Amino acid sequence: MIRLSVNGEQHQLAVQGSRTLLEALRYDLGLTGSKQGCDKGDCGACTVLANGEAILSCITLAHDAQGLEITTIEGLAGPQGLDPVQRAFADCGALQCGFCQPGMMLSARALLNQCPKPTLPQIQEALSGNLCRCTGYTKIYEAVQVAAGMRTPSQRAPVPSERAAASDSKAQTVKEIAP
Ligand code: FES
Ligand code: FES
Repeated sequence: MIRLSVNGEQHQLAVQGSRTLLEALRYDLGLTGSKQGCDKGDCGACTVLANGEAILSCITLAHDAQGLEITTIEGLAGPQGLDPVQRAFADCGALQCGFCQPGMMLSARALLNQCPKPTLPQIQEALSGNLCRCTGYTKIYEAVQVAAGMRTPSQRAPVPSERAAASDSKAQTVKEIAP
């Protein structure tokens, strides 16, 4: 039996000694915001906070997380609403598929806990263990700067969409396709 403190709630779990913190979070507690990417400490998708610092839950045993205050993405928002990091990532459009985002945002929160006004190299260093296959990182770094209150989101003129052809708004007769 182990006791875990997750997002301010106490949990008692019966787990095998080999159970990782990530497995306990996702499969015992149903907190699936922490993603199971590489499962070997390479991608950062499973990042959670332990006493405010970023750790990789896929290479942390659930037993070893006892006595730590664990925060997952589900617990990042507070009574005042979204954490500034979450708001900034949304305002900057710093995501595409979203798979890396929980880990990215928690690493960013850990950085801002330690260093409220980080330089760009400090941001890059802090997020260097979080891999994103979609965005190219520029907007992610921008979002951390926005969360730190160091800049506003880039303003980009919206790209006007082309008018659809008149025929696109009409139901089309389904054509039979010859085998
Ligand atoms: S799933 Fe933990 S680092 Fe990739
Ligand atoms: S938004 Fe898809 S992996 Fe980062």
